Formats: sequence, C-alpha cells, structure tokens
Amino acid sequence: MDQRKLSCISPSSLLFLCFFLCFSHQPVADLSADKQALLAFAAAVHHGKRLNWTLDTPTCSSWTGVKCTKDRTRVLAVRLPGIGIIGKIPSNTLGKLDALQVLSLRSNDLSGIFPRDIAVLPSLRSLYIQHNNFSGNLPDSLSSTLNSVDLSFNFFSGEIPAAIRNLSQLTSLNLENNALSGPIPDLNLPKLRHLNVSFNNLNGSVPFSLQRFPNDSFIGNLQLCGPPLAQCSAVLPSPSPAIPLSPLPILPHDYKKGSKKLTVGVIVAISAGGVALLFLFGIILLLCILKREDKGSGDSAKMKVTSEKTKEEYSSSGIQEAERNKLFFFNSCSYNFDLEDLLRASAEVLGKGSYGTAYKAVLEDGTTVVVKRLKEVVAGKREFEQQMEIIGRIGHHPNLVPLHAYYFAKDEKLLVYGYYSTGSISALLHGSRDAGRTPLDWNTRVKIMLGAAKALADIHAEGGSKFCHGNMRSSNILLTPDFHPLVSDFGLAQLMSAPVTLSRVAVGYRAPEFIEARKFTHKVDVYSFGVVLLEILTGKSATQASGHDDIVDLPRWVQSVVREEWTAEVFDVELMRYPNVEEEMVGMLQIAMACTARAPEQRPVMEEVVRMVEDVRQTYSDYLPSSDERIK
Ligand SMILES: *[C@@H]1O[C@H](CO)[C@@H](O)[C@H](O)[C@H]1NC(C)=O
Ligand SMILES: *[C@@H]1O[C@H](CO)[C@@H](O)[C@H](O)[C@H]1NC(C)=O
Ligand SMILES: *[C@@H]1O[C@H](CO)[C@@H](O)[C@H](O)[C@H]1NC(C)=O
Ligand SMILES: *[C@@H]1O[C@H](CO)[C@@H](O)[C@H](O)[C@H]1NC(C)=O
Ligand SMILES: *[C@@H]1O[C@H](CO)[C@@H](O)[C@H](O)[C@H]1NC(C)=O
Ligand SMILES: *[C@@H]1O[C@H](CO)[C@@H](O)[C@H](O)[C@H]1NC(C)=O
Repeated sequence: MDQRKLSCISPSSLLFLCFFLCFSHQPVADLSADKQALLAFAAAVHHGKRLNWTLDTPTCSSWTGVKCTKDRTRVLAVRLPGIGIIGKIPSNTLGKLDALQVLSLRSNDLSGIFPRDIAVLPSLRSLYIQHNNFSGNLPDSLSSTLNSVDLSFNFFSGEIPAAIRNLSQLTSLNLENNALSGPIPDLNLPKLRHLNVSFNNLNGSVPFSLQRFPNDSFIGNLQLCGPPLAQCSAVLPSPSPAIPLSPLPILPHDYKKGSKKLTVGVIVAISAGGVALLFLFGIILLLCILKREDKGSGDSAKMKVTSEKTKEEYSSSGIQEAERNKLFFFNSCSYNFDLEDLLRASAEVLGKGSYGTAYKAVLEDGTTVVVKRLKEVVAGKREFEQQMEIIGRIGHHPNLVPLHAYYFAKDEKLLVYGYYSTGSISALLHGSRDAGRTPLDWNTRVKIMLGAAKALADIHAEGGSKFCHGNMRSSNILLTPDFHPLVSDFGLAQLMSAPVTLSRVAVGYRAPEFIEARKFTHKVDVYSFGVVLLEILTGKSATQASGHDDIVDLPRWVQSVVREEWTAEVFDVELMRYPNVEEEMVGMLQIAMACTARAPEQRPVMEEVVRMVEDVRQTYSDYLPSSDERIK
C-alpha cells in the first residue's frame, strides 16, 4: 500500500526537483560568483565607509551602487561614482561579472592599467571611468555591445586602438583630456552621435568619416588638422577629399556609406570629370534634409505660418455685433489697451492648437500679446467666467503663463496672454537643428522639468479637485530666454466640447483611462506630465507623424527598452555629452515611468512628483565633480 503511494508520487516530485535544479538553483550560483567578484574588487582597493559591501548582507538589495536583474540572479550594473575609491583594479575581479551592462567608476582615484577583462565583458554597454588616474594603453579589445564609453580625464597614452572601429553599437565616445597619440582611426560608425577626442596629442588629419563632428570634438591636439579644424598644410597627407559639406550635424545614411568608398583614385576621377556628380550629391543631400524637416514634429512644424488675413479673421462678425462687450482684464494686469486696439494690432498666426488659433498681436504701443481665439466652447457665459476667474487667479504662479484678459461673446471667445518669443520646449527638443536650434543641456532640462512640475502641482492645489490642466504637453511649456519654463493652456479643456476622436497630437499624451471615459482628472494630468518628462529625457516626440515606423506610444516604447534593465539607450543622444549625470537621468526616468503607470492609482500626485524630482537632484548633486576637477 505504502509502496504504491510512493511510486505514484515520485515521478512528479523528481520532475519538480529537476525544474528546481535547472531553473532556480543554477542562477543562484551565478549571483554568488558575482558577489565574490565584487568583494574581491572591494578588498583590492582602498575605499571609505560608503562602500558598504559585506559578505552577510544581500548583494542585490543592500549593497550600495549594485543593481541586479529583476529575478536577482545576476549583477547588471555597478555604479560607484565619486565615492573615493583609491588604487588599482586587479584582473579577475570586476572582469568576472559577465552579465554586467553598466559600469560607472567615474570621479574616483583609480589608477594603473584598466583591466582588459572588463573591457571585453560580453554584455557591457556603458563604461564610465572618466576623472580617474588610469594610465597606460587603452584596452586593445573591446566588447562589441558597448554603446557609451567615457574614458576622459585620465592619463591614458598610446594610440587609439583599432578595435574601436568594430563597435557598431557605439553612440558616444569620450576620450578627451588624456595623453593619446598617433592618428585617429577611421571610425565608420553609423550610430556614433557624440565624439570627443579633444586635448590629447593626436596627429594627422581628421578622417573623413568624422568630419561631421564639430571642431570642439577635436580641439587641443596641436598636430591634428583638416576639417572641421584648419586645413592641413601641403606636407601632411590628407586621406580625405575636402568636400565642403562637413558642418552638417548628421549626414544622411546613404551619404556616409558612400563616403567610405571615396578613395584617392575616385577623388581624382571626381575632380577630373565629376563636378556634375558633386552637384548631384548636393541636390540629393538637400532633398534628404528637406524631407527630414518635413517629418519634424507635428506641433512645431506648423508654427510661424504668417498670414495677412489673420487680422480680418479674428475681427470678423462675432465681435462687431457685441461691440458693447469689453475685454475683461484681471486686476493685477498692467496692460493698457482695449478691444479696438487689439483689433487694430498687426497679427500673425502662431499656430493652430486643439482649442483654436493663436495669434501674436503687436499693439500700436509696441506691446506684444498672444491672442487665442477659442473654437467650440460649449460652456455658458457664467461657467466660462467662473473658469476664467480661477485661471486668472492661479496664473500668478511664476511657472505659469498668466492670463491677462478675456473676451466672451456669443460667437467669439478670445483670451489674451503674455507673449514669449523663445517658443516651447517641444520646438527646442524636436525642431530642426539646421534652423539654429541649440541642444538643451542637462541642467536646463532639469530646471524645466522641476518648474513644470511645480506649476502643475500649483494648478492642482489652487484650482481644487475638479480643476485640471487638461492639455499638458511639451508644446504647452513655453520658455523665457533664460529657459525658465512657463506652463500655458491650462483649465481650458473642460470648457470645450469633447472631440469625438482624439487628434494624433493629443493621443500621445492621453492616459489610457481618459481615452475610454473622456474624463479630466488630476491623474490624467500626471500621466501627460510623465509623457512630457519622457520627451525631455529621450528627445523623442510623443506625437510623431503616422505612416512611418515612428514611436506612437512613448511610455510603452520606453518600457520595452528598459524592460530588462535601465539602459543608456533610451536617453537623448544629445545628453551623452554630459556623462556625469547618468544617475540623475535614471532617477528622472523612474519618476517619468511612475507618472505614466497604466493604472491611475499607481501614479503619484503632483506634489509628490515635485518632491521626487527635487530628491533626485539632491541625492546626486554631491556626486557631480567640483569645477576644479572638471578643469584638471
Ligand atoms: C548601503 O548603503 C545604501 C545606500 O547607499 C543603503 O540603501 C543600504 O541599506 C546600505 N546597506 C547596508 C547593508 O548598510
Ligand atoms: C591622481 O592624479 C592627481 C593629479 O595628477 C594627483 O593629484 C593625485 O595624487 C593622483 N592620485 C593618485 C591616487 O595617484
Ligand atoms: C573586427 O572584427 C572583425 C570580424 O568581425 C575581426 O576580424 C577583426 O579582427 C576585428 N578587429 C579588431 C581590431 O578587433
Ligand atoms: C604622429 O606621431 C607619431 C609619433 O607619435 C609619428 O610616428 C607619426 O609619424 C606622426 N604622424 C604624422 C602624420 O605626423
Ligand atoms: C570636448 O571636450 C573639451 C574639453 O573638455 C570641451 O571643451 C569641448 O567642448 C568638448 N566637445 C564636445 C563636442 O563636447
Ligand atoms: C570652431 O568653429 C567655430 C564656428 O564654427 C569658430 O568660430 C571657431 O573659430 C572654430 N575654432 C577652431 C579652433 O577652429
């Protein structure tokens, strides 16, 4: 009897045992190997109390700077910036973490040779060891998964290894302020978007494939020449044809591919009979660029359409009928004009938004205001006035665009706002770089994120539980010339008739529950704000043109990229030039993802968001190198 029972159970329990051994036991061994490797590193270097790694505490949850896979079976990231580590890294320590993706040891006092076994870790994507005392040659072999490499501000010498040419995933390479010598290898890396080899002892000419980078990627190398630096003198051999197209920030893909084949023989052919070919090249290039601009973000592309008809447009019938109705000014407003002045003003269309058209109006006395002509207002006069009262009152917050005046008649509703010439964060993030747009630096982005969060928190606190922004998006965050953010367009959504279908622009910012129920809540605003944060962090637009394989749902895209682990890939490549802020960027990304949680109750309230953003800033600001460290 007993025996039968036993034989009945044992096959399944054996199977279970097998499962247990195969799927659960094996990875535990990997983590303990990772733990040994980390402890061996900690034992080999000198460090203060901040490296609190001990044998008896859990590696994944309580070791500072260590991040594991979700199932806690491998170490994925080691981030120990600026915590005072001194000494040499021996081989067979960190180099044994073969699941490692991110290693940040920047701003310490590490010296000696950088171990080759770390450089070839099979999954390594980000390597940040800038601001240390490493010396000797660069590793002669590098992991092909590397994506972002910063070796700057060390004492590395010798030549730049040819192995770098094989790093097809590389987007950012910083080698500045070392003692590297010899020529720059021809790096034909299509993904490379940021390069800095300044302040070394490099010589020869800038290879053709790298001439697309600005001259401050190469400065401080006295013997380096050729575009974008000064022309090489006749004595120096220049392997590259001097086609004056280099200052373009990004060359179209085809063009770059072609460039590799431009050997000396071909150049001779070109200069002999190929002037027409060059001409053709130019035209194709121009077409490519125009096409690019065409595809630019929905909102910003529409801006700046001037029309001479506009004046008539908003002075049309509706107003004449109700001439007695005057502009209603808010008390604190110091403007001195009336409706007639406004109608006489020269106007220019700034853009057609979801609520109607916005005009820039320059009054006779030179005052510039923005006049918004609202379409499809469903609210009655009383409701409209009540809402305006709240908008006017809240608008005093330093991060909100104040409403100066409004006009309400049966057929015409106008709002008068202050005018800000710098434009919106959307235009700055997604506008064409050829049109003189300068990339936003990290501190500016943080300032904008914090200012906008405070503004939205204020709208929610002051307006009460029913009052929402209703239309939070990057084109509604305007900027002063010193990049002080001002949130606009708040409180209007609830006055409008709900559109039957959401526009392509709007849908990218809308929380899932809004798309179903069309109900404005604070949590809907939080979601939209999260999308704006993601735009600022990734540089990607939440509202890209359809019909391409573009990103439609930014939060979902970000989630899919970081599913395995936080990676540098989601961030705007323009941020790669500020490598010391990686932790802050990751912190902000976490906030953005919390705001865009699918379930509304999982999203934080705006007040918390403000606190979280401030916390990220404070936690990491002491990691930032001091100014003298930067100069060195
Ligand atoms: C180590 O420090 C981190 C903060 O840097 C802390 O979260 C963790 O609890 C500490 N671990 C131990 C074992 O004290
Ligand atoms: C690192 O280099 C700096 C500057 O040369 C020097 O002051 C410092 O003593 C060095 N640190 C170590 C540990 O070698
Ligand atoms: C680059 O990769 C190719 C094959 O993928 C290999 O033959 C070559 O040795 C590599 N070059 C360097 C410098 O590692
Ligand atoms: C660059 O410098 C190296 C020595 O570091 C020298 O051998 C080489 O000839 C130089 N090349 C050029 C083009 O000046
Ligand atoms: C490269 O580094 C140098 C020195 O830190 C800096 O002056 C320059 O602006 C940097 N160039 C780029 C393109 O980041
Ligand atoms: C770099 O380029 C800028 C503008 O393109 C120019 O003003 C500057 O003089 C150049 N610097 C060098 C060192 O060539």
